[in-house]
Amino acid sequence: MTQHSPASPESAHGGVLGSVPDKDAEVRIPAGARIGEPHPRVDGYAKVTGQARYPADEPVSNAAYAFLLTSDIARGRIVRMHLQSALAMEGVLDILTHENAGHEARPPTPQSGGGSTTTLESDRVWHDGQIIGVIVAETYEIARDAAHRVRVDYEEEPPSATFDTPGSESVRREPGEHRDYEVGDADGAFAGAEVKLDAWYETPTQHHNPIELFTTTCAWDHDALTIWEPSQFVQGLRHNVAHQLGMSPERVRVISRYVGGAFGSKGSATARSAWIAVAARRVGRPVKLVPTRGQGYTIATYRAETRHHVRLGASRNGALTALCHEGWEVTSRPSDYNVSGTETTARVYACPNILTRVNVVHADRNTPGFMRAPPDTPYMFALECAMDELALALGMDPIELRRVNDTPRDPANGLPYSSRSLMQCFDEGAREFGWQARNPRPRSHRDGDWLVGWGCATAAYPSNIAATAARVTLAPDRARAQLAAHDIGTGAYTVVAQTVAQAFGLPLERVQVEMGDSSLPPASLAAGSSHTATIVHAVAKACDRALGQLRGAAVAAGGPLAGHDPHALRIENGCLIGLDGTRTSFADALAHAGMGAIEAYAENVPDGLPKAAMQTLYQGKPPILRGHSREDVTAYAFGAQFAEVRVHRLTGEIRAPRLLGAFAAGTIVNPLTAHSQYMGGMIWGLGCALLEKTEIDIRHARYVNDNISEYLVAANADVTDVRVLLVPEHDTAVNPMGIKGIGEIGIVGMNAAIANAVHHATGRRIRRLPIRLEDML
Ligand code: MOS
Repeated sequence: MTQHSPASPESAHGGVLGSVPDKDAEVRIPAGARIGEPHPRVDGYAKVTGQARYPADEPVSNAAYAFLLTSDIARGRIVRMHLQSALAMEGVLDILTHENAGHEARPPTPQSGGGSTTTLESDRVWHDGQIIGVIVAETYEIARDAAHRVRVDYEEEPPSATFDTPGSESVRREPGEHRDYEVGDADGAFAGAEVKLDAWYETPTQHHNPIELFTTTCAWDHDALTIWEPSQFVQGLRHNVAHQLGMSPERVRVISRYVGGAFGSKGSATARSAWIAVAARRVGRPVKLVPTRGQGYTIATYRAETRHHVRLGASRNGALTALCHEGWEVTSRPSDYNVSGTETTARVYACPNILTRVNVVHADRNTPGFMRAPPDTPYMFALECAMDELALALGMDPIELRRVNDTPRDPANGLPYSSRSLMQCFDEGAREFGWQARNPRPRSHRDGDWLVGWGCATAAYPSNIAATAARVTLAPDRARAQLAAHDIGTGAYTVVAQTVAQAFGLPLERVQVEMGDSSLPPASLAAGSSHTATIVHAVAKACDRALGQLRGAAVAAGGPLAGHDPHALRIENGCLIGLDGTRTSFADALAHAGMGAIEAYAENVPDGLPKAAMQTLYQGKPPILRGHSREDVTAYAFGAQFAEVRVHRLTGEIRAPRLLGAFAAGTIVNPLTAHSQYMGGMIWGLGCALLEKTEIDIRHARYVNDNISEYLVAANADVTDVRVLLVPEHDTAVNPMGIKGIGEIGIVGMNAAIANAVHHATGRRIRRLPIRLEDML
């Protein structure tokens, strides 16, 4: 670690934390660094004591309550809505329908090409559970009661629910619409390979079940709208709703100080927000919506079901000669949304011949969206099971197969990895897990009536970063950071506080962090494992600016450190210290300059991003993430997942009593919150492997288990021993502070590690998730 070399007051690039795009710079973490220390969450106390206000908790005076009317059919038109008996109820204030309110808002901007399903804008029904009306009443109970009194006549058409149902349409994505790879001659190499693996894999529909529901509260003050809604991108939501309502974004404010679970489900604007705003305008009062959990399955987004055809060719020594991966993903009728996971699977292993394709399958469903590691959870499941099958075909240890195919260069484009510690993760993980004791023969381990199996898989996730602005205020004895960023439960408040505390040499308790409000300097979205790298760099830069001004004040004529070199001053515990040991407090430095506090604003556009990235953010457009689109390096975090499963020989019950993940993701800003993040991802991976699936009634294209008693997620009794290893990694090519991002990698590959362990335990290769006891009988 090097001593920091601070920037001059006018410098465009700060230096304290190395937010300078200076290629030769080391990661500059000064001695006594608070970055890298395991701090408990600064918002933990507020959360566990109920003081944290989630958006639906915000007190608004004189609120009316909304209940959504949703469609009972999946495809067709609304012919007539019978509203009389609902409207006649005492306390019902309004009922919005396509006939009376549809013209008041446009659909939200879709999150990828193609159109978006409409809601009240037309009589068209695109999917089961579509919003077709909004009831507004004095109380929630009256609104809900009224909703059950509305009858709707439909002109119904037979819907198509999913893959292989009549009427679904499969469309191959064209190059340019998304990135596919064609390197060498993969078909030819596969045909001529010494050892081949050709298999199909499937992952199911999965739904988000955050504890906090998809709420929206809207209030108007003349022509200004405030929206309280849990969001991973307040700036985007603000602009999206402004566009939907045809108003200036300056008149819209989104507040989302705490988010009770998101993982992609609160990343995009959905239709409900604008309708609640319209409802509030019509009734002239704030309106609060807390939809039911079941409604969340159709008014928000989800992980669509996928299919994969994987063909691997290898020589006898295990070196891959051909890698072909074609995926199919379900989406709605008008949308082209797809996750395109072949962007990762094409590039994790050395291979001279690569061919990938992605297809979207349109069905009568709501539009899917992001869910933790959207591309990599399903696509790496397919590849990592295929690698395990190939290892067996070769008679090789699965870790050795990964070693043979490890590569310092991205095989898809030839660029070097900024750093790649995949094999370090496998080696440390294997040692801790005890992998060397594994007999490779399936069904070879037994413990009483339990068949025991061990499996492993690679985890990988691109390292992203985006442009973001931040404002920092330095007062004599405290500091504050403000930016429109988001803490979706990940610890973002804490890492920002650590950044400020470190820059100013202040205790963490003296740092206040304000986020989750679109009126603060615009920040990028909390997604794509980009947020920590993004906001920490921007906040560090703002701190550098503030310090530059403070140094300038201290050394000015008549100042307490007059004559000192401003760049040579050390910062320690709220003081500036000269080379000769002379020290002055921030308070004295400010007082001599006649200042009460210093406020600094900074925009950070990471190296490699277009100059327009900040303007794009100000316009509320989807932020440009610099990750796998980089042109000088390929930046990925890697990890190794290990699982032990036990399958009961008679009942087929499957347990996963022991999970271990080893991850290398550059600088870990807070090992405590990082540990939780990885562990949560691994546990979700367990749920993904063995439990989670949204069942669809094919006849009606309807989700059946849309509640948390029948949609199974991993809970305490499913999880016994989860070990996380943080493998050290120093990477200055990825970004100045070397932060790769860890939000999603923890889930990637765990589903495959468990499926591979199930095979090792039982000799049964199950290529479709979730793996349940009926597959074992
Ligand atoms: Mo995350 S699924 O990129 O919000």
